Amino acid sequence: MAKIPPGVGPQHPQIVVLVGATGDLSRRKLLPGLFHLASAGFIPGCRIIGLSLDDIDADGFRQIARKALEEFSKRKLTPADWHAFADSLDYVPISAGADALKAAVEKAEQSFSGQTRRLHYMSVPPSAALSAVRMLGEAGLVAGSRIIMEKPFGTDLASAVILNAKLHEVFDEQQIFRIDHFLGKEPAQNILAFRFANGLFEPIWNRNFIDHVQIDVPETLGLGKRSGFYEQTGAYRDMVVTHLMQILAFMAMEPPTALAPAPISEEKNKVFRSMLPIDPAHVVRGQYAGYRSEEGVDPTSDTETFIALKCLIDNWRWAGVPFYLRTGKKLAEGQRIISIAFREPPKSMFPSGSGVGAQGPDHLTFDLADASKMSLSFYGKRPGPGMRLDKLSLQFAMHDTGLIGDVLEAYERLILDAMRGDHTLFTTADGIERLWEVSAPLLESPPPVRFYEPGSWGPKAVHQLIAPHAWRLPFERAWRDSNKTGQ
Ligand code: BG6
Repeated sequence: MAKIPPGVGPQHPQIVVLVGATGDLSRRKLLPGLFHLASAGFIPGCRIIGLSLDDIDADGFRQIARKALEEFSKRKLTPADWHAFADSLDYVPISAGADALKAAVEKAEQSFSGQTRRLHYMSVPPSAALSAVRMLGEAGLVAGSRIIMEKPFGTDLASAVILNAKLHEVFDEQQIFRIDHFLGKEPAQNILAFRFANGLFEPIWNRNFIDHVQIDVPETLGLGKRSGFYEQTGAYRDMVVTHLMQILAFMAMEPPTALAPAPISEEKNKVFRSMLPIDPAHVVRGQYAGYRSEEGVDPTSDTETFIALKCLIDNWRWAGVPFYLRTGKKLAEGQRIISIAFREPPKSMFPSGSGVGAQGPDHLTFDLADASKMSLSFYGKRPGPGMRLDKLSLQFAMHDTGLIGDVLEAYERLILDAMRGDHTLFTTADGIERLWEVSAPLLESPPPVRFYEPGSWGPKAVHQLIAPHAWRLPFERAWRDSNKTGQ
């Protein structure tokens, strides 16, 4: 077992009320994540009370959890670890009401001799979150607790404002952790390290040197069993106004005065305030062929499963630098990249035919996968006579550090932070409301969806959207595989 440095976990054992406990996110990420945090010793103790609409008992929930761990946990499930985890699980169906929930929480607390702390995790769509919040209030489980709210936080500005106001009737802002799991990804935090822990890059991190930026997150995944949720949500609300915009803020923000929640939120929110409203003329919405015949989908559905757009940040650092965002389901490849294209030199002394500029501008590329990578591409001389230029690159791969096993999965990292009361990597009500505000023109007049074939790169119109530039993906030159080359 990896050694856990002191202070990374919470002081007291945690009583977790997991609302939406039998849902997709819970099975894929939350139960495996809580299992890892508990079994690796990050938390001094943990009891989980599942809550959902399903009429099952604690054993039924244990069966679901066991299957989830077998299917989705990246760590080996030893019989001893499983028994310890199974013992920590309990379940209350929503129909049993607030008193039953209160009794289950108190029973869990009594199983520890000392002080414990309550954490509520709302893994439910926005429409269901408020009634669950009310139930926590009725059960008297609010005082001293913390609550993690899943995205999307509302569906537009008006609903986000109402959701925030109603939430504040029950919980104080300090108790609320609005989660965006992209901010828990190791490489997302590495953007902050890369930018602000080095003197080399920040001086060129602006409109004078950067031509445009791409944040591109194509997925090969379809919807699985999530069509009910997705049909109401679509790619913009599911991915852009949440994950892609949050990553954009880390990429575009000014240096915060400290690595602490208030200064970081302040700088991120300044980026959102400088963002121009999204112009529907700069948006391509797509839907994969066959979506309308999936179970749970309206046969005339206008929900987009793909979106690409141009976003502008109208401040001193970024005026005139387009940020292109793209994401979608059932695309050709699963990737998560940020790619920064630098301006080209003003003049070339190289002979025509030398190849200078022929392979696009220099790029700095971040791969946001857990095993993150970074690459800086540039022109260099091809060996031999004359002056022929080739695109070369400097690359870093997390794999090479030998520390890849220490990476915490994004949800694990963020759950642990919430248990410690650390808001640094969580989003704020202000920031989210501003993002809904800039989204209004698009939400009010969305361009019609265009169809694309599963396994493609989306509707053809994405090329016009980015012209005269080109999408980096699919890459012309693949990442170097350090395992193969030993580099
Ligand atoms: C979720 C979205 O928030 O993020 C999913 O609801 C999406 O639709 C997922 O597939 C992508 O996350 P990751 O961590 O797999 O890149």
